[in-house]
Amino acid sequence: MPAPFILSPSLLSADFSRLADELADLEGAGLGWVHLDVMDGLFVPNITFGPPIIAALRRRSKLYFDTHLMIERPERYLAAFREAGSDLICVHAEATVHLERVVSEIRRLGAAPGVALNPATPLSHVEYLLPQLDLVLVMTVNPGFGGQSFIPFCLDKIKDLATMRRERDLSFRIQVDGGVSPDNTAALVAAGADVLVSGSAFFGHPPYKERLDVFQAAAATSPT
Ligand code: DX5
Ligand code: ZN
Repeated sequence: MPAPFILSPSLLSADFSRLADELADLEGAGLGWVHLDVMDGLFVPNITFGPPIIAALRRRSKLYFDTHLMIERPERYLAAFREAGSDLICVHAEATVHLERVVSEIRRLGAAPGVALNPATPLSHVEYLLPQLDLVLVMTVNPGFGGQSFIPFCLDKIKDLATMRRERDLSFRIQVDGGVSPDNTAALVAAGADVLVSGSAFFGHPPYKERLDVFQAAAATSPT
């Protein structure tokens, strides 16, 4: 039996003119999570959407809102994203000076705290915080755009993080984001990933129920 994993489709690759319908289609296909990529044009070059769009979608969806904040100084907007309906709020370690304070504040607001690391950021940046986290997001591309290629050295980082989790008997989830597809799903799950984010390799291949089946079948094969 392969390890179970959660597929969190990245809305960045969905049809932005019909977002609520896209969420309904995800729910109908049996997905439980959706990954919401928030970009500010500063931390990353791109700009996407913010709390008003998330609040509007919250009124139409029961999916678990997995919110990935690619914004500078995320402490300015934590309450707004929580009020909008984010279930999990993941901030970048590189985007704030007082990371522990930010993580504690996310928890105080009632959301699950996550920390994301860019490919070049070492695991040591979150090492001491791990007991306080519900999730660590290992970026496998430099964030900002969908459709980029997976950076191979990140696989070792996922394995090292999984080793750290096992040795310290911790239970945070390991999430992977960027260039994830059925081709690397088996290797990622075998390395210790629990939550796979997929944008272009998911939304580009409807119907979504069948695409979810393809990812699940891929996880059951031997890693290449
Ligand atoms: C990248 C975003 C990702 C992106 C992934 O900056 O954080 O969530 O949508 O897209 P794919 O799966 O196409 O690499
Ligand atoms: Zn993301």
